[in-house]
Amino acid sequence: MKTNGYSRTAVILHWILAVSIFFLFISSWWMLGLPLPTKEIQFRAFPFQLHKNIGMTLIFVVPLLLYVRFKHRPAPVPSSHMKPWMHKLATIDHIIVYVLILVTCISGYLSSAHTKWDTTLWWLVDLPRVAAANDDMNELFSDIHLWAAWGLLAVVAVHISGAIYHAFLNDGIVRRMMRW
Ligand code: HEM
Ligand code: HEM
Repeated sequence: MKTNGYSRTAVILHWILAVSIFFLFISSWWMLGLPLPTKEIQFRAFPFQLHKNIGMTLIFVVPLLLYVRFKHRPAPVPSSHMKPWMHKLATIDHIIVYVLILVTCISGYLSSAHTKWDTTLWWLVDLPRVAAANDDMNELFSDIHLWAAWGLLAVVAVHISGAIYHAFLNDGIVRRMMRW
């Protein structure tokens, strides 16, 4: 069964987003376990910079994906494939995913902006220093970052459960995000 899905660009951006977010989750818990930097031990800096670089890049990827999917709207899923309540759940889940990605990224940036560590985007562009080092503000945005990330994990879990359900039904929904 064939359903017209997303444009190729939207599919590529979706998978860049998905792989990046999996990487950010897995790498973040690993990077936080590394020893704090001293004169001899500096290897904590690289995974932190990588985490921040990938996260900051998503701030551009998300609006780009939204732009592309609204410019080339995918054909609606036929009602024979998805009950109205499922369609509603999927739409709400997608909106929350978009919002939580942005909240996670912005709170991560603001948490990091309140430390003494600067961020050089992809080791090329120095991000402007928007705040002075401040432990309380760092902790506040760090808490928001953590909770937004947990929330994101929850809505992504619902999203992937939906995808697995449709994969078992083999109703063509998953292929909407797989075509090349
Ligand atoms: C961290 C991981 C993921 C994130 C953040 C994510 C995010 C999103 C978002 C935001 C949309 C909505 C696109 C739109 O219409 O604006 C979407 C759609 C979709 N995603 Fe994912 N996704 C992830 C993982 C996956 C995985 C593992 C699959 C499994 C096959 C998948 C399958 C799909 C499908 C099939 C759609 C289209 C649903 C439809 O036609 O309504 N996603 N995803
Ligand atoms: C969707 C994007 C992102 C996800 C899913 C994500 C996820 C996470 C997670 C799960 C942690 C561990 C939190 C903890 O255990 O305290 C973490 C820590 C961290 N993240 Fe992100 N992150 C994202 C984007 C960013 C961005 C854009 C930045 C900064 C530019 C950033 C900076 C940090 C920093 C500095 C930490 C260390 C702990 C802290 O001070 O909050 N993250 N991230």
